[in-house]
Amino acid sequence: MSLQAVSARTTEGAAPARAHERVLVVDFGAQYTQLIARRVREHHVYSEVVAPVRAAERWQGADLKGVILSGGPASAYAKEAPALSAALLERGVPVLGICYGLQWMAEALGGKVIPSREREFGHTRLRVTQPNPLFEGVDAETIVWMSHGDRVDRLPAGFSRIAATDTCPEAAVMHVSGRLYGVQFHPEVAHTRQGARILENFLRDVCACRGDWLPGDLAEEAIQDIRRQVGGEGEIVLGLSGGVDSAVVGALCQRAVGARCHAIFVDTGLLRAGERDLVEHTFRHHFHLDLTVVDAAERFLRRLQGVTDPEHKRRSIGHEFIDVFREQARRFQRARFLAQGTLYPDVIESVAAHGGPTATIKTHHNVGGLPADLDMELVEPLRMLFKDEVRALGRALGLPEEMVARQPFPGPGLAVRCLGECTPARLEVLRRADRIVREEFEARSEHQGLWQYFAVLLPVRSVGVMGDARTYDEVCAIRCIESQDGMTADWRYPSRELLQAVSSRITNEVRGINRVVLDLTSKPPGTIEWE
Ligand code: XMP
Repeated sequence: MSLQAVSARTTEGAAPARAHERVLVVDFGAQYTQLIARRVREHHVYSEVVAPVRAAERWQGADLKGVILSGGPASAYAKEAPALSAALLERGVPVLGICYGLQWMAEALGGKVIPSREREFGHTRLRVTQPNPLFEGVDAETIVWMSHGDRVDRLPAGFSRIAATDTCPEAAVMHVSGRLYGVQFHPEVAHTRQGARILENFLRDVCACRGDWLPGDLAEEAIQDIRRQVGGEGEIVLGLSGGVDSAVVGALCQRAVGARCHAIFVDTGLLRAGERDLVEHTFRHHFHLDLTVVDAAERFLRRLQGVTDPEHKRRSIGHEFIDVFREQARRFQRARFLAQGTLYPDVIESVAAHGGPTATIKTHHNVGGLPADLDMELVEPLRMLFKDEVRALGRALGLPEEMVARQPFPGPGLAVRCLGECTPARLEVLRRADRIVREEFEARSEHQGLWQYFAVLLPVRSVGVMGDARTYDEVCAIRCIESQDGMTADWRYPSRELLQAVSSRITNEVRGINRVVLDLTSKPPGTIEWE
């Protein structure tokens, strides 16, 4: 089964009728499509993302209040550009086209899109040129986030300009009917200062949404979706990592199918200090899950011998994981389903959610490592959610706070923080340093408000002096960042006392490290993990 087949079935399958009012988000391949869907959810409106090929089918029904057309990497005038039938725009449903979505709409209705003379990227000053419902309550001049190489040059009949920037005259447009809108900028990203207001105006005033959807509804819907997918007899094998994502998946699967959910925790030898014990304790005693702990450190580390390339590492770990699961799943006769805590940022950075053209940044192990012949069907109820939404879902499901608030830990574990070869000795060095980092942040409560705080071991040796002797050891970097959803992140400067304690403890207590440095890189341009 190909990955595309998996994602198509797990994300778009049945598209059950919801009792809520609904906004359709058509995915033209933007990095930001799910961010749009999530912004809609933030206004308590249920949103459904569909690929262009399924748009016509879902662009109907009394529950449909509006449609948002996403951005995308194509040029609207190119032959292969993703397109819809222009007749959809006449169905009477309000539409907001964002970036490519606007450009497609313009071309489809007889306007013209051309390459811009200057590419507009980043913060841009926008002037509202005509009062209109979309910009109600928005400043006459406001900062928006642009990212485009094309622009609308000629508007279709019936459209007029409602906002402009210095280099993009048609930065926002509106149809005389008051139903069709287009913006060249991205209201969904946090950099567009009044983006939330613009989306709210579209949802409340243009689409007349009341906002009848709550995050807690997500739990019930996810449980129903799992039941529908798995059927009355199917068994699920759940890959448990110990983090919040798989814990939430575990709670959902257990609610959905009860004892037909079998949790498996793999000790890869790439875990943090104390992790295995915590997982065993929490899941066996608190959740009463049917839990198997597989001791697989030896085989993972064997597979990683001599591997230094980050993508090679990720793929090797992903494949080993799947092998272990396949072996384990054989123990459960009817286990045709594999549940995973894949989140949207993992998906979007590995492959476009709908097989579209979004660029690959990293192969996240829980999606990129799937072999083509995988004979289990994926259950990924969090695939379209962001971390903070998963946390809210976890709370709605009644998971304990210590589990819900845990810092994210990547599937490939310490391997992607142990740059160079992952030997047992180097992993142990990193494990000790990481424990110290966690202890010091938590002891001072400086972990609060942070997304992640961890140690990275660099395969760089430098000279030091200890006692009267020369040392020639490796470097440990401290990564400590703030983020809302893992898609973008900023570094935080910890207190001097904390840095002092971490540095002094690591260089004194961890043999193999004689230098500690602080990572001052945001995302972008860096990623959160070093590999
Ligand atoms: P990056 O390094 O891509 O990380 O900026 C974004 C967030 O995702 C976590 N991460 C992963 N999570 N499997 C996961 O489940 C993975 O392969 C993986 N790689 C990174 C990372 O810790 C950060 O929170």
